Amino acid sequence: MSGVYDGEAIWSAVDTYFIDRLVTEDEALVHARESSIRTVMPQADVSPSQGAFLGVIARIAGARRVLEFGTLAGYSTIWLARAIGPAGRVVTFEVDERTAAVARDNFIRAGVADRIELVVGPAVDSVRALVDAPVDPFDLVFIDADKPNNPAYLEAALALSRPGTVIIGDNVVRNGAVADPGSSDPRVHGTWALIELLGQDDRIDATALQTVGLKGWDGFAIGVVKRPD
Ligand code: DHB
Ligand code: MG
Repeated sequence: MSGVYDGEAIWSAVDTYFIDRLVTEDEALVHARESSIRTVMPQADVSPSQGAFLGVIARIAGARRVLEFGTLAGYSTIWLARAIGPAGRVVTFEVDERTAAVARDNFIRAGVADRIELVVGPAVDSVRALVDAPVDPFDLVFIDADKPNNPAYLEAALALSRPGTVIIGDNVVRNGAVADPGSSDPRVHGTWALIELLGQDDRIDATALQTVGLKGWDGFAIGVVKRPD
């Protein structure tokens, strides 16, 4: 972050304070986080406090079926898979085969491989197959893949939801770029489209929260699918 106030150091110190006291990572989670370096998007995984946050949300929602767009090394996937318990199922989409191989190894190491279905390929195609199948609705959807496709991912998530389904979108702040009307970044344009849809679609109640910490300044959009009026 640039400007008169450089908060990065104190954000990280506070995040570390909480992580040290609240977030327990076993060897498999540490390994998954560190193996992010071997994915197509090094460092794009969620932070430990954010992974634990996703797990808490999954437990609050009583989620059994989770859909994730964007696996990378599977760090968030493992948090979600552990939160839903052995009878749960996570379907997660990864476009890159070599990255998927890293994730597969991490799922075995974490003891959750049997509850995760990793689908390799463009997520727009993978999710269309689920919509067409059709499959049982998901209880929680985490949208964390290529940002320009966010509107398509939200549409598909809504099609695969039921009243009460929680839908979370990652990286909606991007160091404040979301509030720069002149941004030419296609990832920001994808975020704008996601936020517009969340605001206008009567099927979902949503908000967004900024986050600071080890991953800098970013944020989550979070919504819940409504009962039809
Ligand atoms: C980017 C994507 C992510 O999902 C993330 O958490 C951080 C960065 C990116 O597209 O740059
Ligand atoms: Mg992300």
